[in-house]
Amino acid sequence: MISTSKHSEELLQNGYLNREIDPTLDLFAEINKLKKEKNAILLAHYYQSADIQDIADYIGDSLGLAQEAEKTTADLIVFAGVHFMAETAKILNPNKKVVLPDLFAGCSLADSCPPIEFAAFKAQHPNHVVICYINCTAEIKALSDYICTSSNAEYIVNSIPKETPIIFAPDKNLGAYLVKKTGRDMLLWDGACMVHEIFSLEKITRLKEKHPNALLISHPECEAPILDISDFVGSTTALLNFSKNNPANEFIVATETGILHKMQLNSPNKTFIPAPPNNSCACNDCPHMKLNTLEKIYLCMKYELPEILMSDELITKSSIPINRMLEISAKNGL
Ligand code: 13P
Ligand code: SF4
Repeated sequence: MISTSKHSEELLQNGYLNREIDPTLDLFAEINKLKKEKNAILLAHYYQSADIQDIADYIGDSLGLAQEAEKTTADLIVFAGVHFMAETAKILNPNKKVVLPDLFAGCSLADSCPPIEFAAFKAQHPNHVVICYINCTAEIKALSDYICTSSNAEYIVNSIPKETPIIFAPDKNLGAYLVKKTGRDMLLWDGACMVHEIFSLEKITRLKEKHPNALLISHPECEAPILDISDFVGSTTALLNFSKNNPANEFIVATETGILHKMQLNSPNKTFIPAPPNNSCACNDCPHMKLNTLEKIYLCMKYELPEILMSDELITKSSIPINRMLEISAKNGL
């Protein structure tokens, strides 16, 4: 068994967050200055707040971010996303410094797949190929044969010979969606994303009645009843492209609300309505993604903390399935 990541050691570094910032500082200007001084790149996921997306050098979904991390020539990678994404950037850049503005930016889906339990599950099915969604820890990646994201999952599944049995982890909703799309009978791990499993079928149905011309567009991490009534299902980037290219003027969006910023920028005359969740809150924010702020990004670039730390062994083992994913994606023009 591989030694665990240095997550607790990393978390001690979060103490830097207590530093005070001069409230008169122009954070946009300071961050841009630090980017130049340190040859740093700021990578941001579409679920980050609008101000972070506006100052990022690259905004993307999980696949785009991994591809950008793979090719960067920057010395310092600042990751405005969650821990597993920054870990992926570190795995692809073992000799570079990768920092995450807040190390508590975790992921409920990654947490739903503990390495010891997953290793035991895998051992019960020794003939299965293991495909893991990128939303998992580096320890889970090291136990995988292939990594996938929502952008390339179908290609990865279809690249495995038909007679080979597959374990798919950790997202049971994406897994069930892939079973339907590919016709492959995969063994699914029982994990889910706290943001995407919260949408209310009843409220969305009522909203669709109120907006009969609106198209419902959903991320495949949503539960099957939501996907079944959706007009389009796709990764974050696919949803963004669909909303831009489809002639419809109104969209009900069943994913994290951060993406609405870019959708609205791309299509200023269209209306985007966040799909209602199954609780009294009207928002679908990922609490982990939204831990990052401009202030924390500034501090993190200034002090180059907190840094993602991993053992060489973990980096080597987890890089194998990630590189397989990148190769298959490149072959398919993704
Ligand atoms: P993508 O960025 O691959 O669409 O995944 C969504 C997500 O939940 C990221 O945490
Ligand atoms: Fe994890 Fe869901 Fe947040 Fe993405 S949106 S980081 S899958 S909890």
